[in-house]
Amino acid sequence: MSNGAYATLHEQSLRDPEGFWGQAAEDIDWITRPTTVLDASNPPFYRWFPDGRLNVCYNALDRHVIGGRADQAALHYDSPVTGTKKTYTYAELLDLTARFAGVLRDLGVTKGDRVLIYMPMVPEAVVAMLACARLGAVHSVVFGGFAPQELAARIDDAAPKVIVSASCGVEPRRVVEYKPFLDEAIRRSEHKPEHCVVLQREQAPAELGERDLDWATLMHPDAAAPAECVPVQSTDPLYILYTSGTTGKPKGILRDSGGYAVALRWTMPAVYGLEPGDVMFCASDVGWVVGHSYIVYAPLLTGCTTVLYEGKPIGTPDAGAFWRVVEDYGVNSLFTAPTAFRAIKKEDSRAEHLAEHDISSLRTIYLAGERLDPDTYHWATDVTSRPVIDNWWQTETGWPIAANPVGIERLPIKPGSPTVPMAGYDIQILDEMGNVAGPNHEGSIVAKLPLPPGTFPTLFNDDERYVSGYFAAYPGYYLTGDGGYIDEDGYLFVMGRTDDVLNVAGHRLSTGSIEAALAGHPDVAECAVIGVPDSFKGELPRGFVVLKAGVDADDESVRERIVAELVKRVRDEVGAVAALKQVDIVDGLPKTRSGKILRKTMREIAAGKTPVVPSTIEDQGVLDTLTPVLRANQS
Ligand code: COA
Ligand code: AMP
Repeated sequence: MSNGAYATLHEQSLRDPEGFWGQAAEDIDWITRPTTVLDASNPPFYRWFPDGRLNVCYNALDRHVIGGRADQAALHYDSPVTGTKKTYTYAELLDLTARFAGVLRDLGVTKGDRVLIYMPMVPEAVVAMLACARLGAVHSVVFGGFAPQELAARIDDAAPKVIVSASCGVEPRRVVEYKPFLDEAIRRSEHKPEHCVVLQREQAPAELGERDLDWATLMHPDAAAPAECVPVQSTDPLYILYTSGTTGKPKGILRDSGGYAVALRWTMPAVYGLEPGDVMFCASDVGWVVGHSYIVYAPLLTGCTTVLYEGKPIGTPDAGAFWRVVEDYGVNSLFTAPTAFRAIKKEDSRAEHLAEHDISSLRTIYLAGERLDPDTYHWATDVTSRPVIDNWWQTETGWPIAANPVGIERLPIKPGSPTVPMAGYDIQILDEMGNVAGPNHEGSIVAKLPLPPGTFPTLFNDDERYVSGYFAAYPGYYLTGDGGYIDEDGYLFVMGRTDDVLNVAGHRLSTGSIEAALAGHPDVAECAVIGVPDSFKGELPRGFVVLKAGVDADDESVRERIVAELVKRVRDEVGAVAALKQVDIVDGLPKTRSGKILRKTMREIAAGKTPVVPSTIEDQGVLDTLTPVLRANQS
């Protein structure tokens, strides 16, 4: 039962944010200590610790080496797909990072310059991120599963001076060559980087072109002189991380330096129950926000050991992979997505692999990235006998909005709920009229401003979209884009996106990007993509296309060819992670009289719900014809 520690802390964080976060800032080493905690003079553009100066890389590496952790493992690289295991101490990780920062500096990278990182789960990706932080340069990591078009859009927006990449990634059943994707993306983008640094991997070395440089050559001890930490303002950007909106144009979530460091450091003991010296295994990817925060920055800022795992929950080689990693490194906290547990459950429902491993070091399991369904929660809890903590957050926030604050007070768990708002988050549910909804009433989940430190201060180069996309709907509140309710005990339940953003196997994807790929097919007149429930990946995209007049839509072989081409197009343009397998050719799409496709209504029908059909529907007959197709959800 609650002893009130959480309630007291949460109340204080809202009543006195400056006192609360000013205190939390003590755990970060500042070059110039901030005298102001929060500048709230220009809402919704809040600035945390505006006059503080620091270096995030110093806080993640140097200070631990100076403070006695030089020989402690900072990072265990575990790669079942390549058969590699390697441990880097804090001293070794610092040495590599300082040298790669020297390499970037010698390539002309200075404070504020962007460096795009397109890499698989290799230690060099972490080194590149931290090297940018060391120079005050802004990294932008792009997930390796994205195809050239998505990469090109990010290159054009971030305009990086240098791109750091690898020759290939290694997936369980195939080697994915990154270099041709990179070359194609640069060919498509208007902005051209000055240099590409390429890590050659033996599984598929790449041919290097004129602007390409070889990682190993540059990093040769005789070639690379280490760079020192460059002081930055707390409000200076640490990174840009692109995430999917509803349109095809990705949003460049900007992260500041000081606020992020303070917030992440606070979460490690409070939310993840971890102290310096503990071991965290976050089985995500450095290309996602979960990877930025809990593979790289938070564990290292805390002096923990992080595990960088290049593999999958199953198939590398089996469903015991996570338990093997826990045993090998004495992992204390395991963090992954519910879909990974569903994968393990599917292969090994009786957890026989788990019995083969000693997981006694494991204290707590954390799941995030998508809704944790009660079945998966119960299974994970039963087989591991560990607390399974659902935590809800977004690329925008950088750290959990809601969780069970195990380090403050472990609250009773309600399956299906990520428990309660974390420090600094004043979460409310608003109905369509903008009124606060009562307990158990579903509505839009919003956070009253200001948001706590570490959350995005704006979108890169796009203050306008920041305001219109997140703060215009309900002035004074941040619109999360998720819907849900708060129950009579103050527990939050997050039920899913209220917009058209997809969540496939914990990967956030844009309907707009997938639609753009479909619409680019010469036979397609118009199309719509919606997310439909899937028992394994949580959600799967489904495409509906109307063919141009003149295409013989009655000919089965023509239809089959077009569908196969469309599936391939999405894979080639957006990436394999989009996992679009089902496309239906239909006669028409339901629209409002002003021409807006009724995706929400389609989603509701496909999910087996009673749809809310707007009175402005143009032609009810089109929807009636489509309904059986939508109901025939193959998953
Ligand atoms: N580079 C290149 N290709 C990639 C890739 C990468 N970094 N990551 C995934 N892909 C490819 C996969 O190889 C797969 O290709 P295929 O269609 O040829 O098999 C495709 O993208 C789909 O990948 P994925 O969604 O990962 O499905 P999967 O069936 O291979 O694996 C899970 C399913 C559940 C094991 C996996 O999705 C998973 O671990 N999800 C957790 C997600 C996560 O950590 N999210 C972050 C929030 S915590
Ligand atoms: P991303 O920005 O990629 O982290 O995706 C954020 C989105 O994932 C959120 O807006 C939610 O829709 C979903 N999400 C993440 N974590 C959870 C969770 N614990 N419960 C429900 N949905 C979640």
